[in-house]
Amino acid sequence: MFCRCFRMCISLFLHIVNAVEIRDNFLVQRRDSMGRLSLSAIQKITAIFWMLAYGLPADATDEYIKIRESTIIETLKRFFRVVVEEFADEYLRSPNATDVARLLRIGKYRGIPGMLGSLDCMHWKWKNCPTAWARQCTGRSGSPTIILEAVADYDMWIWHAYIGLLGTNNEINVLEASHLFANLTQGIAPLAHYVIQGKEYNMGYYLADGIYPKWSTLVQIIHDPRGQKNKLFAMKQEGCRKDVEHAFGVLQSRFAIVAGLMRFWQKHVLHDNRGWA
Ligand SMILES: *[C@@H]1O[C@H](CO)[C@@H](O)[C@H](O)[C@H]1NC(C)=O
Ligand SMILES: *[C@@H]1O[C@H](CO)[C@@H](O)[C@H](O)[C@H]1NC(C)=O
Repeated sequence: MFCRCFRMCISLFLHIVNAVEIRDNFLVQRRDSMGRLSLSAIQKITAIFWMLAYGLPADATDEYIKIRESTIIETLKRFFRVVVEEFADEYLRSPNATDVARLLRIGKYRGIPGMLGSLDCMHWKWKNCPTAWARQCTGRSGSPTIILEAVADYDMWIWHAYIGLLGTNNEINVLEASHLFANLTQGIAPLAHYVIQGKEYNMGYYLADGIYPKWSTLVQIIHDPRGQKNKLFAMKQEGCRKDVEHAFGVLQSRFAIVAGLMRFWQKHVLHDNRGWA
């Protein structure tokens, strides 16, 4: 029941509660001067996961968990910051040699040697986008969006993520703004050693859609493949490129907050990336 409601098992939930409680005493339960107990960390974090899982606006937690809207918004911001500080070393790291070796093994097994993951973008509607920015943030969909660019692997592990903001309204200008860009244009990707048809290569690559630029570090889908070889290649590649879409799909189905509308107003709140590029 808990797993269904909160999108994670209770042991993971408590692990997160303990970790953030130690880092930020804002979340710790206290007594005020009248001797009344404030909300416990569990109460606050329950409210946060409720919002993340169901995409509820902050005022809805008033009813369910009896937390004031202003408290929950402040808690939410601090919670994200602490989670990033606490878990970034493990979960927001770049792939190291062990990881790359594993990714190459999986790629080879699936018929795409040298692949390190798939690159794509997810669009998140921005409900409260200030009018002054609306045009800059509006892409093909016709309404303001925030774009998440990510590289994901077969296990839906996200190896790279970047949130595009002002002046970014499509895949290309998000890529240009992202920290992955400089390396990719210069042909720098994590070192990888593999052999295709007797030829040795030293640089891995990401699979991407046809709208991305043609660099040696991005391998595109073949549209309208001709001939047996190309058809087979296109089929295998399309299968692998779906990894990133799959990861976005799971993210959105678990955490409705990224499937619904983005509600914050201010740029610095949306883009609070201390400790996370
Ligand atoms: C890569 O990171 C993982 C997880 O932190 C670690 O277990 C592994 O030993 C690391 N490998 C190298 C070569 O640093
Ligand atoms: C870009 O390349 C440099 C040098 O190889 C590396 O230190 C850095 O981590 C890379 N950045 C990304 C985002 O991959």
